Amino acid sequence: MMNVDVRVDPLDALPADLIAVFVAPSPAALTGRAAAVDGALGGALEELRAAGDLSGKREETALLYSRGALPAKRVLAVGLGSAEFTAEDLRVAAAASAKSARRLRLTHYHVALPGAGPLGAEEAAQAVVEGALLGGYAFLERKSDASGENPAIEGLTVVCDPAERDAAARGAERGRVIAEAVTLARDLANMPANYLTPTLLAERAGAVAGETGLARQVLEESDMAELGMGALLGVAQGSDEPAKFIILEHNAGRDDLPTYVVVGKGITFDSGGISLKPGEGMEWMKDDMSGAAVTLGVMQAVARLDLPLHVVGLMPATENLPGGRAYKPGDVLESLSGLTIEVISTDAEGRLILADALAYAKRYEPRAVVDLATLTGACVIALGHVASGLMATDDALAEQLATAAEATGEKIWRLPLYDEYAEQIKSDVADIKNSGGRPAGAISAGHFLKRFAEGYPWAHLDIAGTSKVDQDRGYVLKGATGHGVRLLVEWLRDRAADAK
Ligand code: BES
Ligand code: MN
Ligand code: ZN
Repeated sequence: MMNVDVRVDPLDALPADLIAVFVAPSPAALTGRAAAVDGALGGALEELRAAGDLSGKREETALLYSRGALPAKRVLAVGLGSAEFTAEDLRVAAAASAKSARRLRLTHYHVALPGAGPLGAEEAAQAVVEGALLGGYAFLERKSDASGENPAIEGLTVVCDPAERDAAARGAERGRVIAEAVTLARDLANMPANYLTPTLLAERAGAVAGETGLARQVLEESDMAELGMGALLGVAQGSDEPAKFIILEHNAGRDDLPTYVVVGKGITFDSGGISLKPGEGMEWMKDDMSGAAVTLGVMQAVARLDLPLHVVGLMPATENLPGGRAYKPGDVLESLSGLTIEVISTDAEGRLILADALAYAKRYEPRAVVDLATLTGACVIALGHVASGLMATDDALAEQLATAAEATGEKIWRLPLYDEYAEQIKSDVADIKNSGGRPAGAISAGHFLKRFAEGYPWAHLDIAGTSKVDQDRGYVLKGATGHGVRLLVEWLRDRAADAK
């Protein structure tokens, strides 16, 4: 658990290894603790500004040593980018402070809220905590000796004025819960596949359930066979690791609350199966369970925030390997929905396991279902590593997700499910086929899922490009991103507020 607290003490009563203060570009005046630091250090920040060494631009930092003038040993001035800064600007600035703190090998430091500007203390504190904890993330679990690495940021003290205390405490706590959920999703997606089989993923889900009070159920292959989940079982055939269908539920026992279902693709390793992938870069197919990782993170946060909703997380999990009993191109699978599927490519496995999960979701009579999946290389080509592809059968749901994307900075872009694209997945031998070829590959995959997402409003997020990035971008660091956790937690918080 990360530890986050809030202090309202003046600077002369705040011992710290490091305190970060925010600075907007001139001519904006220094505000809050930045102004106080400047006073205590005899105009040091204004001197830096006058010299042009602290312009207040995005991600700029300047480190000062207080040399006894303050109980804080070091002060870090961080550029905000704008006097009219947004929550996103603040997250990015806080991430820059965390990177500096890590370079100083600190695991805990202090950050002062801006003290002025367009955001309230609650929103500002949430943004600062999210930005700092996510920008200070590191995945070191598989190093035998991590002593040579800068450790991750584990905690933060948010400093604010007494009048801001209660609001800041609410925002900081929510920021901590959300950052921990994103961190869980990142850790799982960064984890090598030999340390995260479907069985181990089910165990992790059990641990989260135990800590948070979520109900957990795991369907074994025998249960899936009984239910008729032939699509998921088809994919699982090529691996000796047993598949798991993991179910987490928040407010499981209550029938007075609206139900929302989140579904996440849980391919713990995607070799492509008999339609084997090229070797180069295949190591990253360990993150093909990012949708499930995000779902687990969302469920953890929803439980900790105790949202007044009934939320179900479904995580179909299996490896996709070319074993001797593996499913083959040309095979026909019978899915839970009853639809038969011709397998064109065993590498189009994600939509197969999701088909059964989406059919299973119907039993909850949900208000809406959202799935997340590292589904297509085509989506990476279309939108790169910046935005997830959104496809939806319901405009209101798509709007709700767009609103959450705006608030969280987790970008999504809607692709059209025009009927014409459905032609691509017509099969000669079965009801539908699992590949529509290369043109509009993200959309034909969306169309495939749509056939199984019957009976409720549905949206699909293709996170193939956003689940992992190869360079740092603010608080989004190289490696697994956890993209989707903050988006869906925000979406569900909005639904909870609507329901009131
Ligand atoms: N997991 C992959 C999609 C993927 C590719 C994610 C690259 C991240 C980076 C998925 O299972 C897959 O292999 N999709 C195929 C579908 C095709 C065979 C219709 C693809 O996109 O090539
Ligand atoms: Mn694949
Ligand atoms: Zn895959």
